[in-house]
Amino acid sequence: MNATKVTEDIFKLTVNAEDILFEGIWEIPNGVAMNSYIIKGDKTAIVDGVCGWNGVPEKLFALMDSLNIDPGSIEYVIINHVEPDHSGWLESLIRIFPDFKVVCSREAANLLASFYRHTDNIITIHDGFELDLGKGHVLKFYEIPNVHWPDTMVTFDTLTGTLFSCDAFGSYGKITSAGYDDQLSEEEISFFEKEAVRYYSNIVAVFSSSVLKAIEKCSALPVKIIAPGHGIVWRKDPAKIIDDYKRYAAYQKGPAKEEITVIWGSMYGMTEKAVMHVEKVLEQENIKYNIHRVPETSWGTILASVWDSTGIILAMPTYEYKMFPPMAAVLEELCKKRVSGRCAFRLGSYGWSGGAQKELDEIMDRNRAKWEFIEPVEFKGSPSDQDLELITERVHQLVRTVRERVSNR
Ligand SMILES: Cc1cc2nc3c(=O)[nH]c(=O)nc-3n(C[C@H](O)[C@H](O)[C@H](O)COP(=O)(O)O)c2cc1C
Ligand SMILES: [Fe+2]
Ligand SMILES: [Fe+2]
Repeated sequence: MNATKVTEDIFKLTVNAEDILFEGIWEIPNGVAMNSYIIKGDKTAIVDGVCGWNGVPEKLFALMDSLNIDPGSIEYVIINHVEPDHSGWLESLIRIFPDFKVVCSREAANLLASFYRHTDNIITIHDGFELDLGKGHVLKFYEIPNVHWPDTMVTFDTLTGTLFSCDAFGSYGKITSAGYDDQLSEEEISFFEKEAVRYYSNIVAVFSSSVLKAIEKCSALPVKIIAPGHGIVWRKDPAKIIDDYKRYAAYQKGPAKEEITVIWGSMYGMTEKAVMHVEKVLEQENIKYNIHRVPETSWGTILASVWDSTGIILAMPTYEYKMFPPMAAVLEELCKKRVSGRCAFRLGSYGWSGGAQKELDEIMDRNRAKWEFIEPVEFKGSPSDQDLELITERVHQLVRTVRERVSNR
């Protein structure tokens, strides 16, 4: 937990969340930072609070105390987005210091009524709505619906060019230093890049077309600093995270990077033998690949890896006339995130009837997933030398296709 100065009259209060599943689903091995911002004009505003996990409101109040900010002096509570990771502390604030005005979108006002029964002193904004805090800090608000809920908006401080972007331009990863791009090493920045893909693919992915619309809207503003609700603040190079987000949005439809993700599962090691062979071929091809076993690997990790990859290899056996169940669950999740335009290859073992391939075709058709599959290789029991030879050819074919798709982008 830390409190730091972003720029003139603007402060960031960061609390890390760890040891939770984000949204109750997503494993966050490196934690996630939750940011609130204080703007001190003649009047004081707070942009987003942080959630109610593990006494966070108390932590937030303690951070304000360290900056000599009396929570009772807050005139405006700006709620960019009502999801409780940003607004959960509101109940505590209402109980202790009820004399503040909420600034939010019309949609957010409805949600505040249903989530917290809070309906008092609410100022609803429209695009370009202005709020003057004094000392030159005139704030402007812009709606960016569906990044991530229908209520989402951004807040822009016209004096300093700071864009408070909430879930847009955010990343996972706890913050152990101050958390500004200008103070981080290249290694630390690349850590947050990886965490940003993971966050994007888990949380924002479905809303990729809304992300692109939001970027278009925000690019009309003279943005100098990007201050998101999660992750680090971009002061030196705000264009970087904007470009990264544009890329992530484009990856939804593919092609993504020149990378392959292998997802595999095996009960008794028959499919596993073929997977070990696939790895050797990928190494010969000198292409970057990521490999994940199901069900051991969490959906969040697999999703992040698939998001970055143009090629996907699926290896699983038949189980009770269908596909090995954890693989089916992962594929359904990938389809829900509308991952499309992937080049893919499936292989796997069966005993007598098969059935995994049929279910795979059914999942892909039902979801209109638009993956380009090369011919699968299925084998009875253990893979023969001939099966492995065929697999070698198909993996080479997949790598060629991936390289072509990426270079023709
Ligand atoms: C619980 C269970 C259910 C199975 N169901 C089927 C099936 O419906 N049809 C089939 O062809 N093989 C079935 N098999 C056989 C497996 O597909 C076969 O043993 C395969 O080699 C397993 O590959 P693995 O060692 O990579 O898990 C089943 C095996 C198990 C253990
Ligand atoms: Fe959100
Ligand atoms: Fe969030």
